[in-house]
Amino acid sequence: MEKLEKFTVGRQPTLVFGAGAIVDLAKTVAVYGARRVLIVTGGGSIRRTSAWHNLLAELSASGLDLCDYSGDGEPTAAQVDAAAEHARKHSVDLVVAIGGGSAVDLGKAVGAAARMPDSIERYLEGVGDREPTGETLPVIAVPTTAGTGAEATKNAVISRLGADGYKKSLRHDAFVPRVAIIDPELHVGCPREVSAASGLDAITQLVEAYVSTKATPFTDALALSGLAYAAGSFRRTLAEPGDVGARAGMAYAAYLSGVCLANAGLGLVHGAASPIGAVCAIPHGVVCGNLLPVTVTATIEKALRENETRVINRYAACARALADDVVGDDVSASRRFIDVLLEFEEVADLPHFGAYGFTAGDVERVVRDTSGKNHPVEFSADQIAGMIESRV
Ligand SMILES: [Fe+2]
Repeated sequence: MEKLEKFTVGRQPTLVFGAGAIVDLAKTVAVYGARRVLIVTGGGSIRRTSAWHNLLAELSASGLDLCDYSGDGEPTAAQVDAAAEHARKHSVDLVVAIGGGSAVDLGKAVGAAARMPDSIERYLEGVGDREPTGETLPVIAVPTTAGTGAEATKNAVISRLGADGYKKSLRHDAFVPRVAIIDPELHVGCPREVSAASGLDAITQLVEAYVSTKATPFTDALALSGLAYAAGSFRRTLAEPGDVGARAGMAYAAYLSGVCLANAGLGLVHGAASPIGAVCAIPHGVVCGNLLPVTVTATIEKALRENETRVINRYAACARALADDVVGDDVSASRRFIDVLLEFEEVADLPHFGAYGFTAGDVERVVRDTSGKNHPVEFSADQIAGMIESRV
């Protein structure tokens, strides 16, 4: 048992979890005394489902005034500003964000932006010149994919693509959604490629938080629990997309990955994922799924060479949580972890970065903007460039 040092656990949403949990939405809105509700969605696929129509009917029947805003792809500052204007015009007093990680981030950002006097861009970390005060409309997050865990975190990722692009966070403790309603039945229609990419994002977050230099006994327990549920669920969600039990396992793993990243930080994969995502529109989960095996392999090889026992022990524990055929000591278990991740990668069958227009010429700029500050070992810029190049 490791010694207990001082640590903090940030605020979490009230969690309503399980098949059919969405029926509690109207009741949950009522708890906040809201009258006018903005429903934020992503690209629109949820709007073609019967669940969407039932939801609107139920919310309207409970006497709420509804308006809605549909985002498209990962949120931009212009999108957030437009949706916030929409919210102010309709005197909205609560935001419900339904969709994938981008829709949940958009909803969180809109809740805050509706209370801000200037463009959201002025409040982004590393971009703007102002700090958020934490003032926000209450936000209820209803994820329909299992990936980023955005329903549990205090930041919303905002992107701008291109030469002067960025992928930066709007961040404040108060931006954690008040409530997360996680209903795995809403995940059943998630396309295979999205389930694969977002599932590997969640797994990456759990692994990176577990080996992070900022990990705590609290996040350790959650990370291993999340990996154990992912172990039994990831392949099944891809092979049997209608399996609600498997969807529940991944949804739970994703939620825990959000709590873990908020409290333990992440590693090199996520350090590179933001600058890669600022170059071109590669889904975040595709970036993580591509970089996880190559990064873990390099980290384990370095840790073995340098006899970094803590790091080896931690990857061995990840292997034992994520696969049930891991035998032997920590050194052999950590080596087995590399194979486990390669097997997951093969099942996921994700495109490489080049499929989205990313080229080897983009690598230098990405490496310059990459931070691996909580990663358990250090790599040179050339080593990081080699890892990214191998996935172009
Ligand atoms: Fe992530």
